[in-house]
Amino acid sequence: MSKKRIVIIGASSAIAEHCARLWVSEAADFLLVGRDLSRVQRVADDLRVRSPQSAIETVQIDFLDADAISSLAQQAGQSPIDIVLIAHGDLPVQQSCEQDIHVAEAALQINGVSPVLFAEAFAKQLAQQGRGRLALIGSVAGDRGRKANYVYGAGKGMVERYAQGLQHRFAYTGIKIVLIKPGPTATPMTAHLPSSGLAAVDQVARAIVKAIEAGKPVAYVPAKWQLIMLIVQHLPRWIFHKLNI
Ligand SMILES: NC(=O)c1ccc[n+]([C@@H]2O[C@H](COP(=O)([O-])OP(=O)(O)OC[C@H]3O[C@@H](n4cnc5c(N)ncnc54)[C@H](OP(=O)(O)O)[C@@H]3O)[C@@H](O)[C@H]2O)c1
Repeated sequence: MSKKRIVIIGASSAIAEHCARLWVSEAADFLLVGRDLSRVQRVADDLRVRSPQSAIETVQIDFLDADAISSLAQQAGQSPIDIVLIAHGDLPVQQSCEQDIHVAEAALQINGVSPVLFAEAFAKQLAQQGRGRLALIGSVAGDRGRKANYVYGAGKGMVERYAQGLQHRFAYTGIKIVLIKPGPTATPMTAHLPSSGLAAVDQVARAIVKAIEAGKPVAYVPAKWQLIMLIVQHLPRWIFHKLNI
């Protein structure tokens, strides 16, 4: 079996790093992309120790620069790509978004526009290859706007609508688009939250790697969030608006 080549955008994310640790156990090759090279290098160094036979490249990029994103994808596409995982995101304080429009703008850009631009640029490369898997990390927060985090949720909702369109575009082809919707997971992003109720990051990563392997269109991780969000999405407004969520 030939080695997989995997591109990870937001490679310093705890969820992405744990996915990479699973993939590296099969000696995959990686292109790791982040906004801060030293943070991506740390992940690369760890993966090299785990798998000396893996080729691991690192790249630093401005995640909102469409031209840079486009040339990165074009360069990466010079060699065949098996998997693209788009993992970056930032959970803002909702009240800060309400008070400062620039905080809201930044949250919408990094959680919505940026992942979509990366996906669009890499979809072009996968289309040329005629095969591959592209996974985007959305969130259960994108399923229904809630007062606790609706600006973040709006960015994630954008990713979901975009992923649906990409799935329609690539239906019945060798290209699989996978939308991952994690529930609350213990990572630096949720370090300020009580740890009870947070899923373990290694379990979430295992479920993500499995969903990508299976080419699942949508994967709630852990799976119980599918049922929870089905209920949340279908609660009538008059009940929903009484909930403090
Ligand atoms: N943890 C959860 O409960 C949870 C739940 C649902 C969905 N998610 C989603 O899962 C994905 C991974 O998150 P995580 O939990 O692994 O969080 P994490 O460890 O805090 O990682 C966040 C990642 O996003 C990158 N990032 C943040 N702001 C950025 C910016 N302005 N420009 C470029 N990169 C930026 C970070 O880069 P630096 O390392 O350079 O800061 C890091 O790679 C995200 O899309 C997140 O929204 C997480």
